[in-house]
Amino acid sequence: MEENSLLTEGDVNFSAARKVWYQDLDPATMNLLDDDATVFMHQSLSTPCLDVIESCEGIYITDMKGKKYMDFHGNSVHQVGYRNPYVVERLKEQMDLLTFSPRRFTNRIAIDFASKLISLFPPNLDRVLFAPGGTSSIGMALKLARVVTGKHKVVSFKDSFHGASLDAIAIGGEEQFKKYMGPAIEADTINIAQPVTYRNVFEDGTDIHYADELENILKQDNQIGAFMAETIRNTDVQIPSKDYWNSVRKICNEYQVLLILDEIPIAFGRTGKMFAFEHYDIEPDIVCLGKGLGAGIIPIAAIVTKDKYNIARDISLGHYTHEKSPLGSAAGLAMIQYIEQHQLLAKVVQDEKYVREKLLILKEQFDLIGDIRGIGLLWGIEIVKDRSTKEKAIEEAELIMYDCLKNGLSFKISQGNVIQLCPPLTITRKELDQAFEILTKAFLKISFSL
Ligand SMILES: Cc1ncc(COP(=O)(O)O)c(C=O)c1O
Repeated sequence: MEENSLLTEGDVNFSAARKVWYQDLDPATMNLLDDDATVFMHQSLSTPCLDVIESCEGIYITDMKGKKYMDFHGNSVHQVGYRNPYVVERLKEQMDLLTFSPRRFTNRIAIDFASKLISLFPPNLDRVLFAPGGTSSIGMALKLARVVTGKHKVVSFKDSFHGASLDAIAIGGEEQFKKYMGPAIEADTINIAQPVTYRNVFEDGTDIHYADELENILKQDNQIGAFMAETIRNTDVQIPSKDYWNSVRKICNEYQVLLILDEIPIAFGRTGKMFAFEHYDIEPDIVCLGKGLGAGIIPIAAIVTKDKYNIARDISLGHYTHEKSPLGSAAGLAMIQYIEQHQLLAKVVQDEKYVREKLLILKEQFDLIGDIRGIGLLWGIEIVKDRSTKEKAIEEAELIMYDCLKNGLSFKISQGNVIQLCPPLTITRKELDQAFEILTKAFLKISFSL
């Protein structure tokens, strides 16, 4: 197999900066990293690992040597912070009562959780089905769309990611996931352009023309049953306008195409609302949820859809062993209660203003920053060689990341040059300030050394 075909950090993790990083790790950690590499299958994005972590709490993950990282990545599971004490308490209670619910039985906590979840949606979205992971919820949504529309094709965005299974990569657009997989899986999917911008277009609607591509495709192909997309793209933080999504909704209605929104990484307050689609005044047909749904403790995912689509009782949409997981339900219910009781949505709206101001100051200070985009507590900082050409500064982005990691701030880089900031929603102002200090120092260091 070809190695090192993609060189950006996160893709293969064999860069020069990664080698330097390992020089600072202690022998015990290096031994465990070696053990990890010995027992686990190697794959892009995951291996080799950065460090070995031993505990987590709030916004922090802590390694074997006691070094704490502020986690501004967290795989988007940590909305309510790591090991949230309220969630942990509810889970302990549940563990003393009912830990698994075999198929054909149900349980109160799963019903309570489903009811609570539905209560957060517009009245028409009133049916739920759970799954053990986000990718499985994508699969359920695709199956349901086929049943409802009788049409098997799907439109999705180029470069999109909706999970790593064969059905999910078939509709996803990221090439890295399709390599060696053969052409057949792509036959039923058409990838269209994601509305992209060089600034925050959320309010201005200049991206509405992107919806034309969808309409043109639907005009020509009557076998398309669904349009699947992330409402706001999480990785490199692409925020379509209200006009764009309203136009898409209208087009989907006109061509009897289901609008499936993948909110797996972005729901539950990340954007300052419980769900990202609420910013757009649109009603999706199916919403896929996961990641933070289980409070970062228990894996659980879901689709939420309409009663009128509850028409597939003679087949299994999601025949998953952990379908009505009492522990997943206890975690999810507690996660939602925590967000509500601590008014995290209002907090995130305030934090958004604060972070925006901080990032604008950073942008003024450093030419390396091409664009900043964000909403709530999800932000992307684009690192460029030159603002006018927007040429990606991949190596610089990586060096900034490693400097931050060294100083205790962890985040991910997307598209090779977009620093993605995704902290727990529980983060305090003091912690935000600390993170910005680390980030600023890294920018100073890398800009100075160029
Ligand atoms: C947008 C999106 N959809 C789907 C998934 C798949 O979720 P999971 O890894 O829980 O299967 C992910 C995971 O990163 C994601 O970011």
